[in-house]
Amino acid sequence: MNIIICKSVHDVALQGYEVFKNQLISKPHSVLGLATGSSPILLYEELIKGVKRQEVSFKEVRTFNLDEYVGMDGQHSQSYASFMRHHLFNQIDIDINNTHIPNGIAIDLNAECELYNTTLEHHHIDMQLLGIGSNGHIGFNEPYTSFDSVTHVVKLKESTRSDNVVFFNSIEEVPTHAISMGIANIMKAKKIVLIAIGKKKAQALYNMIHGPIHESCPGSILQTHPDVTIILDEEAASKIQ
Ligand code: F6R
Repeated sequence: MNIIICKSVHDVALQGYEVFKNQLISKPHSVLGLATGSSPILLYEELIKGVKRQEVSFKEVRTFNLDEYVGMDGQHSQSYASFMRHHLFNQIDIDINNTHIPNGIAIDLNAECELYNTTLEHHHIDMQLLGIGSNGHIGFNEPYTSFDSVTHVVKLKESTRSDNVVFFNSIEEVPTHAISMGIANIMKAKKIVLIAIGKKKAQALYNMIHGPIHESCPGSILQTHPDVTIILDEEAASKIQ
């Protein structure tokens, strides 16, 4: 694991930008796995600036998002589809038809998961961006999800729902379920970049990097991936030796 510890959250975004820039310059038709949540927002701002400076382009890029809330229409303001349009897609030169996010309102959710898996099999992810939950989840693969899991419907842990309440008016509004890429899907990416910010992530990062490789900390499986870069601020890194 390549671990980069940054002095500020802004530096985390700049380091992340460098990794994306190198990827997009070396392979303009990259397939990128993308994340939502608070961690990637500043990085996405840097990517938007990079496109404006014509340093990077997403014209030939295809993207797959990790997850979407069940029961949430892509037009709902808190859906991950809206998040991605707002924070990235609407401000870069990507063809929206080349962006993939699970459909949280599919009538047959299992069929939707199967379709996502099949589509992923046809487009090998070159670089996957991840955040990490305070309980060690990656994507929405909560503790004790099988390392062999592929895209599936997840029941969110109460701790995850309360971590995410910041995006909603009340805990009742936070969905109880999501569709998430599985851990096996994530591990197939050629390269993985994980970003984490803030003290709340410190224990999860310790468990991910130094803990046993065990399903109690889904992120710990990344210890077995050949190409992982972890970009952290000092608070998130505070428990790492
Ligand atoms: C988001 C995702 C989650 C988040 C994680 C951290 O698509 O799959 O694993 O990356 O919950 O969320 P933030 O960045 O909000 O702390």
